[in-house]
Amino acid sequence: MNVMIRGRARPYRTVSFHTANNEIALIDQRLLPHQFTILQTRDFRQTARAITDMVVRGAGAIGATAAYGFAQGARSFRGSNLPKFSRHTKTVYELLKAARPTAVDPVNAMNQVRLAMRAGETVEEQQALALAAAEEFAREDVRHCQDLGRHGAKLIRNGMTVLTHCNAGWLAFVDFGSATAPLYTAQAQGKTFHVLCDETRPRSQGATLTAWELAQQGVSHQVIADNAAGHLMQRGKIDLVIVGSDRTLGRTGEVANKIGTYTKAVLAHRHGIPFYVAIPLSTIDWTLRSGLDIPIEERDASEVLGAWGTLETPRAQPRLSTPRKPPKRPGRRAYVRVANPTSGALNPGFDVTPPELITGIITPRGIFPPRQLWKRRNDLGCPPPR
Ligand code: MRU
Repeated sequence: MNVMIRGRARPYRTVSFHTANNEIALIDQRLLPHQFTILQTRDFRQTARAITDMVVRGAGAIGATAAYGFAQGARSFRGSNLPKFSRHTKTVYELLKAARPTAVDPVNAMNQVRLAMRAGETVEEQQALALAAAEEFAREDVRHCQDLGRHGAKLIRNGMTVLTHCNAGWLAFVDFGSATAPLYTAQAQGKTFHVLCDETRPRSQGATLTAWELAQQGVSHQVIADNAAGHLMQRGKIDLVIVGSDRTLGRTGEVANKIGTYTKAVLAHRHGIPFYVAIPLSTIDWTLRSGLDIPIEERDASEVLGAWGTLETPRAQPRLSTPRKPPKRPGRRAYVRVANPTSGALNPGFDVTPPELITGIITPRGIFPPRQLWKRRNDLGCPPPR
């Protein structure tokens, strides 16, 4: 998508690979919306750290980063001994898999790369196949997001207000996004609508990333506090909810997504508001049989006990409540302790929404009730039984 840099719109992808120096270029999402910076990872260990530290985040984006990181690790191997090479790639795989445990996209992405590598008979051939397969995963991520945008845009009518949670936008994928793809397609079709972005504490991806994205694309939007959605639904101010997912179980239709998604689904159900989940095929887990088996990432307590942001000058304070031009130079980035200094915190990163609260799953192949995923598994990329 386009990013305005010094008054000019330039197209960017969240993640890309530089073949010549075996480096991965990532938009540093920790610094947005105050600073737009590209960070390069030089080896697979740095790539895994960038995923854990959330330089890059969001299911599809970490899927593509893991695919590239796996190829990066494979390409860094020196020698022609195949058994040694496969031990090395196993280490790379395990490290990248552990970097963020809840999302299944990195595992599906790396499995796709490993499968493609099997056609190679030498280390060199397998290294070349790994990079080609990682590039194909990234291209497929873009195609899937465009396709689910086409299907999802049919749900958006003129004058609607759409609620979204966390960031399932183009920053969470290689491009276009999952939950935001229907919005961007509807915008291109000339529809007018308004988006409410849940702030999404504790890391505030809605307030920082989704709001920044929508502002860059000129989509009408406002940030709301996480606790405001129930009140707004009760007053008829929300017509539709679209969220993303980090792991959707193909067998049961359960959806793991950013903490707070389940609460919004319960509220939407209470108020009869349609609740949709948008996913590319790489987000489907065809193996697990229960949402209780999904590993839920526990993140650091500091995320709950305080917040990162930029320091505003005291003179800017009175104008903070109204939208305004970004300052020429961003304030200093700082962590502010909010909670009582002697208290600890519990910080589960994700929750699981059961299928009965979900109106439909928007996929690149169409929109399905969650429990129909398993029936449609042949169209939805379920690997054949071994
Ligand atoms: O912890 P994050 O920022 O990686 O979590 C992201 C989300 O939960 C998104 O909603 C999700 O990835 C779905 S869309 C990619």
